[in-house]
Amino acid sequence: MLDRFPLTGTGPSLAYEHADAETLDELRDDARSCTRCDLYRNATHLVFGEGPDTADIVLVGEQPGDKEDLAARPFVGPAGRLLDQCLEEAGVDRDRCYVTNAVKHFKYQMRGKKRLHARPNAGEVQRCAWWLGAELELLKPKLVVALGATAVSSLLGSKVKVMRDRGHILHSPGKPDVLVTIHPSALLRIREQDEKEKSRLAFVRDLKKIRRFLRL
Ligand code: URA
Repeated sequence: MLDRFPLTGTGPSLAYEHADAETLDELRDDARSCTRCDLYRNATHLVFGEGPDTADIVLVGEQPGDKEDLAARPFVGPAGRLLDQCLEEAGVDRDRCYVTNAVKHFKYQMRGKKRLHARPNAGEVQRCAWWLGAELELLKPKLVVALGATAVSSLLGSKVKVMRDRGHILHSPGKPDVLVTIHPSALLRIREQDEKEKSRLAFVRDLKKIRRFLRL
């Protein structure tokens, strides 16, 4: 189903007009010295997107977690493993996707010796949308998959709600089409096994729309 939405979000299409980079490698190099917000101060690495520069599917998460921050690669921790399994079950090859995040630095709070995920605020998301927009401008994907609320707000603004709009592919002029779904880490937080499995199957169902939309 392709929904037409009168989107007015401050998504990245407004932001990338001034990126000089002509390739993703150049953009990645530029991003390494990013100080657009303060998150660079405490992070180990900037975690840029990765995947083929010919990818027609772009998956957008929230921000790197602890493992991703250390490895400097997106979605390599527990949420990434679950995402991989669900993509496989949905018949989508991760290797043909470009995987990135709305926010490129890990935001966390120390609890004892542990670094616990902290949600990026609206200003951090907005500033980092510049990079996401530049990635999308270079990739020109057929479909972007927004994984969770932060990706949705970065791409589409605050009028789109994950739980209301999930499973829908939203179209707005001048922007790539966006499939809205949950973030895989939401599944990791569910303790009750039946509920967890039900939610996982619903996520796989959302991801199957990628294949249908792209006629894979
Ligand atoms: N969660 C995200 O949103 N992105 C990652 O890269 C890892 C976990």
